Amino acid sequence: LDGLSTRFLGRKIYYCDSVSTTNETAKELARQGAAEGAVVVAEEQTGGKGRLGRRWFAPKYKGIWFSLILCPPVLPPEANQVTMLAAVAVAAAIRKETGIAVGIKWPNDLLVSGRKICGILTELSAEMERINYMVVGIGINVNQEQTDFPEEFRESAASLRTASGIKINRVKLIRAALAEFEQWYEIWLERGFTPVLASWKEMSVSLHCQVRIHAPNKSWEGWAEDIDSDGALLLRLPGGELQRVISGEVSLRMK
Ligand code: ATP
Ligand code: BTN
Repeated sequence: LDGLSTRFLGRKIYYCDSVSTTNETAKELARQGAAEGAVVVAEEQTGGKGRLGRRWFAPKYKGIWFSLILCPPVLPPEANQVTMLAAVAVAAAIRKETGIAVGIKWPNDLLVSGRKICGILTELSAEMERINYMVVGIGINVNQEQTDFPEEFRESAASLRTASGIKINRVKLIRAALAEFEQWYEIWLERGFTPVLASWKEMSVSLHCQVRIHAPNKSWEGWAEDIDSDGALLLRLPGGELQRVISGEVSLRMK
């Protein structure tokens, strides 16, 4: 990544042609003591992972599949803030590099015209209330054609190329994403979650609208009223009461 402008992020890059999942590789490297800021990037993942145990489709040369190794100096519950920070940073990088108007869907999907172009999967190793390391896995669909997507989600997914009609340079985009991430990470370390959350809200497309939340055994419908200082969704239920939803096991659908 010649010309990378970051101070610590991506100063060490593990580049893989093909890997099962960059998150596992990153976790293994972190266990072996890889420094904070190391990045694993792959041309292809054969066993890409999505949230909630789902698969993530990561075909060769078509996207940016990468994982960041971090060690944020906070308690484990606050690590969620870094995941939301990642969504803000990648959305900002895409907007700057391509002009495409990406929006954020709670908690951390990026959408273009209602279709998902990027997902984030964070994994944490913590003990005794301390974070050992955190892996933030980011998958950006860049140059797929609509027909490259498996049929199950051809309607709900998109790539930056299908969204804009232009072929996007992946190297420029990952460079921009790493630079944005580092800037936001430093703001967060200095000033806390407030500025990150403000930016997250500005780019959100799943606030102030009617949504349905699916949990493993139930679902709720309501008005997405706000996000609290921990990143939880505040859902106004039809009966008037306010329900606090944390992102762990749930997924959101806009109505
Ligand atoms: P979330 O649960 O994160 O709010 P979600 O309910 O849309 O989002 P996820 O597990 O996050 O589900 O992501 C899976 C969905 O993401 C798929 O159903 C598909 O629509 C979309 N998607 C977009 N690009 C991809 C991709 N490259 N691989 C897999 N799924 C993708
Ligand atoms: C989701 O929205 O469900 C999360 C998708 C996360 C995909 C990225 S691609 C790089 C990293 N490695 C993985 O196996 N998953 C994440």
